[in-house]
Amino acid sequence: MSRDMHSSRPLIISAILSLFLTLSHSLTLQSDIEALQSLKLSVDPNMIPPSSYLTTWDFSVDPCETAGSKFLGILCSFPSGNSTSRITTLELDSVGYDGFLPPRIGTLTALTSLDLSGNRFRGPVPDTIKNLNRLTRITLSGNFFTGGIWTWIYRLKKLERINLSGNQLSGRIPARISKLRRLTHLSLSNNEFSQRIPNLYALEKLQILELDSNMLTGSLPNLPSRLTTLSLSHNKLTGHITSLVNLEHLISVDLSDNLFSGPVNRGVLALPRLTHLNVSFNKFTKMEVNNYFGSGSRLQTLNAQRNRLQGHLPVKLVNLERLTVINLAHNQFAGEIPVGYGQRLGRPWRTLFLDHNYLSGRVPSEFGSAVVKIRGSLANNCLRCPLRIPLCRGRQRSASACHGYTQIPQTIQRKTID
Ligand SMILES: *[C@@H]1O[C@H](CO)[C@@H](O)[C@H](O)[C@H]1NC(C)=O
Ligand SMILES: *[C@@H]1O[C@H](CO)[C@@H](O)[C@H](O)[C@H]1NC(C)=O
Ligand SMILES: *[C@@H]1O[C@H](CO)[C@@H](O)[C@H](O)[C@H]1NC(C)=O
Repeated sequence: MSRDMHSSRPLIISAILSLFLTLSHSLTLQSDIEALQSLKLSVDPNMIPPSSYLTTWDFSVDPCETAGSKFLGILCSFPSGNSTSRITTLELDSVGYDGFLPPRIGTLTALTSLDLSGNRFRGPVPDTIKNLNRLTRITLSGNFFTGGIWTWIYRLKKLERINLSGNQLSGRIPARISKLRRLTHLSLSNNEFSQRIPNLYALEKLQILELDSNMLTGSLPNLPSRLTTLSLSHNKLTGHITSLVNLEHLISVDLSDNLFSGPVNRGVLALPRLTHLNVSFNKFTKMEVNNYFGSGSRLQTLNAQRNRLQGHLPVKLVNLERLTVINLAHNQFAGEIPVGYGQRLGRPWRTLFLDHNYLSGRVPSEFGSAVVKIRGSLANNCLRCPLRIPLCRGRQRSASACHGYTQIPQTIQRKTID
C-alpha cells in the first residue's frame, strides 16, 4: 500500500505539472513558443538592453495571452473555433541584438511578417526558413548575415517585400526568384552578391528593385515593365542600357559607378515619368536628347559626370522643363556652351557642373549676372571664363591641353562676355 502510494506520487505530480503547463500554455501553439524561446536563447544576453522587446519575453505568461502587450514585437492570430493561437508577426526592435537565427524559426509556419532589421544577427539564414510559406514580408536588412539565398528564397511564394540589404550575403541571385510573382519590393543592396542578374521579367508586380553595392556583372537583364525605382549603382555591370526605354513607369534610375557603355539613349531621357537619372561614373560615350520633348518631361536631376561623353553639349536639355540639377562634368564635351543654357540659369536650373571637359569660346552673358545664384563649375575647360563670374573659379586647362579643341570664334553675332 505504502509502496503503491510512493510509486504513484511522482505520477500525480507530473500529471499536475503537465496540467499546469497545458493551462498556462493553452493559447499559443507549443512549437511556436519553443521557436521564440530558441530565438531569445540564440541572442547574447549581454546584448539585450533592459528596455528592449526581448527583455519582455520571459515566458511566464503565454505570448499570445496578453495580445502582444507583454511580449513586445509579436502579433498573434486567434483562429475562430480553435483555442490554439499562432504567431503571425515577429518584428524586433533595432537595438543591436547580437546572435544567430536558429533553425527552429522554421516552425513559425503561420508567420506573415519577419523583421529583424538593424541588429547584429550573423551567420547564415537557416534553410528551414523556407517552411514559412505564408510570409509576405521578410526584412533582415542591416545585420551581418552571410551565405547564399538561393536554397530558400524562391520557396516563399507569398512574399511581396524582401529587404535583405546591408548584410554580407553572397553567391548568385537565383533565377528562380522570378517565381515570386507577388513581389513588389526587392532590395538586396549592400551585400556581396556576384555573377549576372537573372531575368526578372516575370515579376510583373515588381516596382522597386535595389541591387546596388554588390559585385554583379554582365549586362542589364530583362526587367519587368511596372518598375518605378531601379538602383544598380556600384556594381560591375556592362553593355548598353537601350532596353530601359520600354519601362514606362520608371521614376528613379541609378546606374552610377558601373561599366555601362554606348549611348544614354534618347528614349531613356524621354521616359514619361522619369524624374531622377544617375548614369555617372560609367563609360557612356554619347548623350542623346530628343528634339520633341514638348511639355512632357518630368526629369529633375540628370547626373552623367565621369563618362566619356563626346561631341557638343546637348542643346535640347533646355527643353526639359522641370530639370534643375545637371552634372556633365569630367567628360569630353567640346565646342561652345549653348546660348540657351544661359537663359535657363536659375530658371529653373539650380546646379550646373560642366567642369573638366574641353568646352571652348566665350560664356553666355547670363552666367555673369549677379542675380543668378547657382551651384556649379566651369573650371578645367578651354573657355574664356572671366574670374569675376563665380562659376569660372578655378583654372582652365593649359593651351597645350586645349590644342585641337579651341575653335576660331564663330562669325554669328552672339551675346557673350569677355
Ligand atoms: C487548431 O490548430 C491546431 C494548430 O494549428 C491544429 O493542429 C488543429 O487541427 C486546429 N483545430 C481546429 C479545430 O481547427
Ligand atoms: C531596405 O532597407 C534599407 C535599410 O533599412 C532601407 O534603406 C531601404 O529603403 C529598404 N528598401 C526598401 C525597398 O524598402
Ligand atoms: C549619382 O551617383 C554618384 C555615384 O554613385 C553619387 O555620388 C551621387 O550622389 C549621385 N547623384 C545623384 C544626384 O543622385
